[in-house]
Amino acid sequence: MKTFEIATQFRQRPYRASVMWPRKLLDITWPNLLCGGLRCLWPGNISKHETNILNCFGGPEKALVCLSVRSGFDLLLQSLQLPAGSEVIMSAVTIPDMVRIVKHHGLVPVPVDLDFETLAPPIQSLTQARTARTKLIVIAPLFGTSIPMEPIITFARENNVLVVEDCAQSFRGWDNIQSTIADVSLYSFGPIKTSTALGGAVATVHDERLLSQMRRVQASYPLQSRFEYAQKVMKYSLLKLASARSIYSIVFSLIKMLGRDPDTTINQLAKNFSPGELIKRIRARPAKALVALLARQQKTYPTSRINQRMNLGKRLTSQLRQGSPEHMILIPGTAASEHSHWVFPLKVAISDRGLSRLRKNGFDVTTKHNLTVIDSAEDTIGGDVPGMRDLFSRIAFLPVYPEFSSADIDMLAQLIQQEVSIE
Ligand SMILES: Cc1ncc(COP(=O)(O)O)c(C=O)c1O
Repeated sequence: MKTFEIATQFRQRPYRASVMWPRKLLDITWPNLLCGGLRCLWPGNISKHETNILNCFGGPEKALVCLSVRSGFDLLLQSLQLPAGSEVIMSAVTIPDMVRIVKHHGLVPVPVDLDFETLAPPIQSLTQARTARTKLIVIAPLFGTSIPMEPIITFARENNVLVVEDCAQSFRGWDNIQSTIADVSLYSFGPIKTSTALGGAVATVHDERLLSQMRRVQASYPLQSRFEYAQKVMKYSLLKLASARSIYSIVFSLIKMLGRDPDTTINQLAKNFSPGELIKRIRARPAKALVALLARQQKTYPTSRINQRMNLGKRLTSQLRQGSPEHMILIPGTAASEHSHWVFPLKVAISDRGLSRLRKNGFDVTTKHNLTVIDSAEDTIGGDVPGMRDLFSRIAFLPVYPEFSSADIDMLAQLIQQEVSIE
């Protein structure tokens, strides 16, 4: 009865259907984008910019600015020189390139399943996955969650294994960088990331010798050209323009009229690297303009944006979890120790018709993503990862960002509940 009332109410009073919240907004202001463009002409004092960034991560003797998390991870594997066939235990979900990099170095990725509620790998799963060949554990806190690292580090120390924390999805603001206990931590400022510089990453490394080696390898790389970075600034300025709420639904329809699937096209457009040979693309030093823009983000990015996103995420979670347990919508990561809601996934099957109803009502909900559930190699002990496979067989991502009002969140929650009851 309740659902019927909501549905009727929407039919009578559609929610400003001509405008649509895009699935993701670039987390950078117009003045900072302009600054990125100008820095392609006048980069300024790069070592000062770099020091300002690194000081937030423990200083230049502890951290390194790289082109991307993928570049930092590849630098690490080049510097470690692990024996071929060594195993790398990895959180079951990541982007496909992280797995490709592991394989490129002759190593074997071994996925471990994640707990649905916390999105952390249970220590028991790490124990089962470990063999005499395990040399590295890569933990990726997903969707904006954080994972308590102490038990993982204890496990790793007992087994003489290094730990990498892949924080690409979990940056919580420049005032909030806690000194990490992982051997290596990687933070991404790629185009769709929090406080983006349209690229760039920071790697923090505890072992000074390892960090120096990574620095030496990176010093041999060519510099990303200012022209390439200027092109990026132009591309993402256009994307930012196209994702203005009043324009986005027109762009969405235009892509459709051109015979392309807007859902897939938009996700491809947002990718950090254009297609091509992965290893060649990631082996470059970040352009001076990129470092300058990252330093400007560090100086100007308000942490209040993240607090706002956290509050909206909490509100949406509690709204979606109302109702009887058997009809409760499943949300991964609700028991994570912290959650900044970089993205907002649900374990729910929404049909194409459902997605198009949600878009007509003003929210670009999508089932598309750039993540993968890692396959385990046949000759490793790590088994399949049914939990994450099940989640990714029916996952949908809701748009949530600081620009939303509480009323937008409430409306989105009602629409999702309505969709779930229709399906
Ligand atoms: C879990 C994870 N690892 C690594 C990356 C790669 O980050 P970058 O684009 O900085 O290479 C991403 C990007 O989304 C990611 O989500």
